[in-house]
Amino acid sequence: MKILVIGGGGREHTLAWKIANDSTNPEVFCAPGNAGTAEVATNLPIGAEDVDALTAWATENRPDLVVVGPEAPLCAGIADRMEAEGLRVFGPRADGARMEGSKEFCKDIMVSAGVPTAACETFSGKDGAMDYVREQGAPIVIKADGLAAGKGVYVCMTEEEAETALNEICLERRYGDSGNRIVVEEFLEGEEASILALVDGDNIVMLSSSQDHKRVFNGDQGPNTGGMGAYSPAPVVTDDLWPVIHDQVLRPTVDELKRRGITYKGVLYAGLMMTADGPKVLEYNCRFGDPETQVVLPRINGDILPLFQACVDGTLSDDLLKWKPEACVCVVMASGGYPGSYEKEKVINGLNEAGALPGVVVFHAGTAEKDGTVVTSGGRVLGVTALGPTLPEAVKQVYAALSQVSFDQAQYRTDIAARALNR
Ligand code: AMP
Ligand code: GLY
Repeated sequence: MKILVIGGGGREHTLAWKIANDSTNPEVFCAPGNAGTAEVATNLPIGAEDVDALTAWATENRPDLVVVGPEAPLCAGIADRMEAEGLRVFGPRADGARMEGSKEFCKDIMVSAGVPTAACETFSGKDGAMDYVREQGAPIVIKADGLAAGKGVYVCMTEEEAETALNEICLERRYGDSGNRIVVEEFLEGEEASILALVDGDNIVMLSSSQDHKRVFNGDQGPNTGGMGAYSPAPVVTDDLWPVIHDQVLRPTVDELKRRGITYKGVLYAGLMMTADGPKVLEYNCRFGDPETQVVLPRINGDILPLFQACVDGTLSDDLLKWKPEACVCVVMASGGYPGSYEKEKVINGLNEAGALPGVVVFHAGTAEKDGTVVTSGGRVLGVTALGPTLPEAVKQVYAALSQVSFDQAQYRTDIAARALNR
């Protein structure tokens, strides 16, 4: 079997690694991949957003399944394009990917479906939005409507901060057309968790819970990033919440999509705030989370391809999924300066030593091979990951592994999973 994974970050290394470990021994290709995917797959020199070139490669080389990692090609309609060529794609078509591509559309689905989420209003310019901010008062949340690479969300503690946010979105146009519309949202308080669900158009299989750490520094300080670490399972998602998240969040969402003629296949990722009034959706994404994937996939006991195939075929069921009892933790090693500007091409040492520790896998994100050595090539460089019999043991092991790895100006958080450990 031939599988094409699209993307080149830590999520895609994890996907390629898990797929390559499938009992059917598939041949895996990754476009564009990184130095880590090169160990488990054949990297293709095609960018993840080059839908034309990816479709051309797949049309010619006929992979049995295409697994799309990032949101951008999904929103650009890569699934539609490839399906038109008779290819099998794990990931929603453009109509379903709008759940992530447009916050306004996503809210509209949630409101129609009665899904608990923050109250909000949408505006097409600064003035209307600012009037509404003054009416509601702070704290308040301002979001650019379209894709903004994980940025474009401002949690504002004062009305002045909200005005600054609106200036950046509407006047400075930092997110380009993604800021043509602005969502102003009620501030929700609580602990966050991610639920990644597989969907086959109708059936839903919820994967284990996880928790991301979005701020760059310890104690959730500093600017937002793509994610500095994660762990799974997340104890904040207590047993009694599972039926609530299924019945009140995911089921009505998929039903509302169906009602509108949208057959959603792939991952539906619910970013949830566990409020005093129960779980509320902060956002939906149309893909696996990064770094949530790094902590959820290693805990799956057995093959992942049958789950992906069942999503495409519309035959998804919980029987296809078994979990390992272990907990998993991932700590992201990032380039100094990230999420601002940073230097590249720093030599990475100790990858083999860290990877040799029991339960440890070092997933690559922003890495490249240069003259036979692995060097940094992005902001988030590595996702050092460990499975352990308990969460405290996994945390201990992941930091033991981190102490083996080094590159110039590396930074990472030393408090990943602290919230769960302190419960
Ligand atoms: P998003 O990209 O929508 O997930 O937003 C990024 C981060 O902003 C989230 O992970 C939350 O930490 C925070 N956030 C988003 N919306 C809200 C909200 N309504 N209330 C409080 N925090 C929020
Ligand atoms: N970890 C956050 C995301 O993947 O959107």
